[in-house]
Amino acid sequence: MNKPEYIKTQIFLDSGDPAETKILFEKLGFLDGQTTNPSLVAKNPEIQKLKNDGVLTNESIWVEYNKVANDIKNIIPSGSISVEVYSDDATSFETMCEQGRILSKWFSGIYVKLPITHTGISVAKVLVSEGINVNMTLCFSQDQAAAVHSATKGAKKGQVYVSPFVGRLDDIGIYGLDLIGNILKMYKEWGSHVSVLGASIRSIDHVNYCLKNEAEIITAPLALWIKWEEEGRLLKLPSDLIISVTDKKQIDYLELEQKNWEEYNIKHDLTDKGLEKFATDWKSLFSK
Ligand code: E4P
Repeated sequence: MNKPEYIKTQIFLDSGDPAETKILFEKLGFLDGQTTNPSLVAKNPEIQKLKNDGVLTNESIWVEYNKVANDIKNIIPSGSISVEVYSDDATSFETMCEQGRILSKWFSGIYVKLPITHTGISVAKVLVSEGINVNMTLCFSQDQAAAVHSATKGAKKGQVYVSPFVGRLDDIGIYGLDLIGNILKMYKEWGSHVSVLGASIRSIDHVNYCLKNEAEIITAPLALWIKWEEEGRLLKLPSDLIISVTDKKQIDYLELEQKNWEEYNIKHDLTDKGLEKFATDWKSLFSK
């Protein structure tokens, strides 16, 4: 079927496997885009095979990632596709900038995922000024989202995404959906150009919340979208969706001022941990 008009949120698949893109596209009849990350690409069955054969190198893995992204693009040619830079403590501003430029040339309209760290935001500022689309990932706080808004002012609407990670906050007993709600509220008050992309989505409640609150984008794994579709939720008006009451710790809304991005507190332990995990999964593909 065509995407129902009442669903304002863009529906993305969170996966590093084009075979899953094909399954979901055929199941839903539409798919607005796809997000990938180093851990998801490392799980791709063909890449796993190359890893097991011991043939991947630090260089050749990027050729494989490029193929994955292009295969996704062939299935959803007008879809928005995000690919992520490699980043660890040692990655310099110059290296990340250069990597971002290379990824941005894989095909037109691609989104370069950058971490919300001092280096990542500094790189975003430059890439955005060069007309490159960015997806600011590993967002765990309203301050981080405020910094993304401030650093990328002047970007076109739709050129910058921020990805709040709901499930990973839930994992530590914090109600991650509040982060989405708070960022949406702040961006609305500020008339922000940044689009909110609900990420680390693990449950139907997470999906319902993003649809009901009209987050611009939501990305979720194949199994969750299949469950959502098979339960007939595609046919429900977002306003009719119900979200369960939570026993997790809620996050208060902060009345933040608009200021220079470097004045916000962008440090978050989960951002650091997330980067470490991405780097470990990536390096496991070619380290002996
Ligand atoms: C997408 O952009 C994110 O990388 C992804 O949703 C993270 O999900 P996870 O917390 O389930 O790994």
